[in-house]
Amino acid sequence: MTRIISIVNQKGGVGKTTTAVNLATALAAIGKQVLLIDLDPQGNASTGLGITPDLRKITSYDILIGSKTVPQAQQKTEIPNLSVIPSTIDLSGAEIELVNLPQREYRLRQTLQSCEVNYDYVLIDCPPSLGLVTINALTSAQSVFIPLQCEFYALEGLSHLLKTIKLVQRQMNNSLDILGVVLTMYDKRNKLTEHIEEDVRGFLGDLVFQTTIPRNVRMSEAPSFGKPALIYDMRCRGSQAYLQLAKELLKREIERAKKLNNAA
Ligand SMILES: Nc1ncnc2c1ncn2[C@@H]1O[C@H](COP(=O)(O)OP(=O)(O)O)[C@@H](O)[C@H]1O
Ligand SMILES: [Mg+2]
Repeated sequence: MTRIISIVNQKGGVGKTTTAVNLATALAAIGKQVLLIDLDPQGNASTGLGITPDLRKITSYDILIGSKTVPQAQQKTEIPNLSVIPSTIDLSGAEIELVNLPQREYRLRQTLQSCEVNYDYVLIDCPPSLGLVTINALTSAQSVFIPLQCEFYALEGLSHLLKTIKLVQRQMNNSLDILGVVLTMYDKRNKLTEHIEEDVRGFLGDLVFQTTIPRNVRMSEAPSFGKPALIYDMRCRGSQAYLQLAKELLKREIERAKKLNNAA
């Protein structure tokens, strides 16, 4: 079964796209077939994977509205096993257009279910909002993955996000679960980081991944070369952390599958 994971946080600049691109790359590198859907009109994941604007003919807007299928919209990246459905600024109109469409919360899910999707993993990079586009990502996914930046307002934003996830679970997608939270741009010399980590781990327990992603300038350089950090500089601390994160994620995937099997 294809695992569909939405990478969500309504705050911008917390590391969603960096996480989506590098996790997708790490999973592809170990031989998984991976599709990354760029669901942010800013198109940063598309850029980060080297998809220049002239290559964005069929986009995530089309699969969200339902005018194109996944096989029509997917395109290969330079990374073996990794495909992408890019986005353009057109997607910013979708938030309003969706309002008047039937089944507006489920459009993406309908497209994903409408034909066979031959991937092990579909990662969805969400926009920085909890509007209808993100709701579509949440109704499409089995799991949510939350990058959280260690800063003062992190917990406040998180409780709002968790409320939204609960609402979606209750009303629209009862098989949705939270795969985990990863602390990003982590700076262990910073006292505040330490406090926030304690709070978040105290509040969420095992949901928080052991792996943290350090702040590392190589991570922010990579997108301008149209490459995931993992390809741009595999040895840097950030890339190594994302490899570690992918390993931890796969371990959780096995535990999750076991739990679901036992429950069935
Ligand atoms: N671990 C990191 N170290 C340094 N810079 C990072 C790191 N992760 C992300 N960034 C940079 O921070 C900015 C926001 O990250 P991004 O992944 O685009 O967040 P989001 O998708 O949540 O808006 C980008 O410029 C990105 O290159
Ligand atoms: Mg982003």
